[in-house]
Amino acid sequence: MIAIVSDLHSNLEAVTAVMAECRRLGVTDYLCLGDVIGYGPDPVAVASIARDTFAVSLCGNHEEALVTGKHRFNPHAAQAIDWTRRRLKADAPDLMAWFGERKPFALKGSWLLVHGSIYDPVHDYVDEPENPIESQQMIDTLDRDFSGFDICFAGHNHTPFVATTLGVMIPHDGHHTFRIPKGHKAYICVGSVGQPRDRDPRASFATIDGEQITFHRVPYDHAPTRAKIITNGLNRFLADRLAEGL
Ligand SMILES: [Fe+2]
Repeated sequence: MIAIVSDLHSNLEAVTAVMAECRRLGVTDYLCLGDVIGYGPDPVAVASIARDTFAVSLCGNHEEALVTGKHRFNPHAAQAIDWTRRRLKADAPDLMAWFGERKPFALKGSWLLVHGSIYDPVHDYVDEPENPIESQQMIDTLDRDFSGFDICFAGHNHTPFVATTLGVMIPHDGHHTFRIPKGHKAYICVGSVGQPRDRDPRASFATIDGEQITFHRVPYDHAPTRAKIITNGLNRFLADRLAEGL
């Protein structure tokens, strides 16, 4: 069983809960779609887990900002990535070097792994499923633009869903397992481990077992993460949003 995780965002409590659930499920391989760091208070511990455990760990827009110093972040994200860079340079320069080697996409058989979308693997967002016009446009691109691969796994939007030519499906507790018919094209957005934004504060990730794709939600205690965000001088908004899933 393979786990696909994304957008850990230096949230050690969420990552620890997800890794425990993966071990319970029998996950053997981990693929990470980027944004291991940024926003959260534990970049060294979370990046160490990513480096030591994940077979693939892509360059997300936060890795790019960490390494290059260039971004178009809002002030909260910008302050957090500058703080993260200082922490890593002081406490774990080997991890800074590791981040500098991250690739923007990976092709594994019929799967394309990106952080953003097929158009820009680092920065672009797969359109939000709630907007019917955008969502139809996204579906229209699948057969037209997906060539050389069938499934594109993406993160970045912090929202889990599946988009195939049959429509968009949003997982929930009553229905969270899907099969993509052979030869069909699909975007699979796995949601975020460390900062979900679909109004469900539980950590989100997906597993693949044969042709079966399962979305998972794992509750964890936000209180210590929240406290560390505030004591490290990061913006309070980044702490408060964790309990809301926003
Ligand atoms: Fe992210």
